[in-house]
Amino acid sequence: MSANESGQAPDKALRRVAVGITGASGALYAVRTVAALLASGAEVELVVSDFGRRLLREELGETASLDGLPDYLQTRYGDGVRAGTLVVHNNRDVGASIASGSHMCESMVIVPCSMKTLAGVAHGLSRTLIERAADVMLKERRVLVVVPRETPMSLPQLRNMVACAEAGAMVLPAMPAFYQGPRTLDDLADFMAGKIVSALGFPHSLYPPWTG
Ligand SMILES: Cc1cc2nc3c(=O)[nH]c(=O)nc-3n(C[C@H](O)[C@H](O)[C@H](O)COP(=O)(O)O)c2cc1C
Repeated sequence: MSANESGQAPDKALRRVAVGITGASGALYAVRTVAALLASGAEVELVVSDFGRRLLREELGETASLDGLPDYLQTRYGDGVRAGTLVVHNNRDVGASIASGSHMCESMVIVPCSMKTLAGVAHGLSRTLIERAADVMLKERRVLVVVPRETPMSLPQLRNMVACAEAGAMVLPAMPAFYQGPRTLDDLADFMAGKIVSALGFPHSLYPPWTG
């Protein structure tokens, strides 16, 4: 990674990852991903849209509200999450650090990614901090992973996924596999979170590698 605009060499040991949570179903995927990144020692720069907040509460309960998220992650996934750092940004603050390419945030995932935010990323709209940070990842040729969740999909939604892929993003749909023999919702979420953290370049043991 090159020096940033202020001339300071980035701290090689610090791995910063932006995580956007939007209002699609699948809040469990999001919290599992954030927990896995924190357990890897990453600095997670978290942005949650208004509907993302609503889905966190509706699907995981009041204790998973944004304010209580650190405690929720620790209770659900253990003290390992304390290895990393959680920084929370406001989705309306398009002047936050991750809105600039000079800020050394190496990668970003939007999980789950609503069709609305997918459209915004596909068309470079930058209406919110999540969309702007994603736009920064694309323009700086950094890693952007989008995890869309909708079914069935319209032609515009399919085209928006293609546009994201053409712009350099990895489209990683929320499609857990069943060949691992999942027994619980957590098993399914672990599979998706494992796919995501792999795509972001982090090792994990969320599911065993396929051995044939
Ligand atoms: C309970 C609930 C579930 C939803 N599930 C989805 C979904 O799975 N996928 C999707 O694209 N939108 C879904 N939506 C609609 C989005 O939340 C809505 O389009 C919202 O404007 C997205 O805004 P955001 O991208 O800023 O979070 C859902 C809404 C609610 C209230």
